[in-house]
Amino acid sequence: MDVLINVFVALHIIGIASLLGGFLTQMTAMGEGTARFNKAMLHGALTMLVTGVALVGLNQADDQIVNNIKIGVKLAVLIVVLGLVYVKRDEEKVGKGMFAAVGALTTANIFIATLWN
Ligand code: HEM
Repeated sequence: MDVLINVFVALHIIGIASLLGGFLTQMTAMGEGTARFNKAMLHGALTMLVTGVALVGLNQADDQIVNNIKIGVKLAVLIVVLGLVYVKRDEEKVGKGMFAAVGALTTANIFIATLWN
């Protein structure tokens, strides 16, 4: 079970790499007001959701303690990010404010995941 959990943690990290990496590639465009939500961001956010839910189930099945409040906060933040990226996925450019908000929420989720024990 440990190996399976670690595999899903690795997939979870690949998801955040895609979501944050997709955001970072658009930073210059964001400054010019021409950034768009790309597929790396959409698929990364979806990967976070699927692997995160799987990790909750796997950890519970393995009798590991899951911090439900921390997971709930991460989930709520991710739902906002995923909602925005999904709804605006076909827009050729997204406003600076909204784009920056998605980057800030994504970064916030990384700190929630790593600093909240
Ligand atoms: C962008 C959003 C997210 C980020 C940046 C993120 C980040 C991380 C990181 C870095 C880890 C490994 C470190 C650790 O074990 O604490 C982790 C573990 C985990 N994540 Fe996430 N996560 C996100 C969303 C989610 C969501 C939506 C869920 C559940 C619905 C979730 C559930 C879990 C679980 C169950 C673990 C392993 C158990 C734990 O140690 O807390 N994550 N996450």
